Amino acid sequence: MHIHAYEKLWLAASIVLILLLIGSVTYGAVGPGVAMVSDGEQPIDAGALDEDDRFAEPRVEQVGENEYEAYVVAFQYGFNPDPIVVPEDSRVTFYVTAEDVIHGFQVTGTNANTMVVPGEVAEITVEVDEPGEYGIICNEYCGPGHHVMEGKLEVVSASEYEERAEGGDDA
Ligand code: CUA
Repeated sequence: MHIHAYEKLWLAASIVLILLLIGSVTYGAVGPGVAMVSDGEQPIDAGALDEDDRFAEPRVEQVGENEYEAYVVAFQYGFNPDPIVVPEDSRVTFYVTAEDVIHGFQVTGTNANTMVVPGEVAEITVEVDEPGEYGIICNEYCGPGHHVMEGKLEVVSASEYEERAEGGDDA
């Protein structure tokens, strides 16, 4: 059987297109910095966060020399704590849960962006260097106040962080 040269060309082109499509979908799912929310964690009781070890008192904790953990609760319409204060040059792991409905947690200017589901704990790590401010926004529609739901990540100098910690008001 004779196949026309043009037909061969289009056959080859369509196979290349299919491979590119598969490649781009795969890259989008497992590319650098892309991870699914782990489902290894036990679900927690969204209705009783005030009795939960991690979320009764939303806070930032130091867990290593330059390592911090932030326990954050998303609610209609905000984040607690707000602002989240961490020192410069640190690695911050956020554990985020929701007390009412599904929210989003995106730290603008970083690749941290996750869905926050009641009863689930989303975990996401960000490295910060220079002092500065990052907006935190909710990008899942969560009610009529969705568009005003925002928080702030404040990266402060090491000395300012110590001062604030001693003051005890932002910890
Ligand atoms: Cu919370 Cu949108």
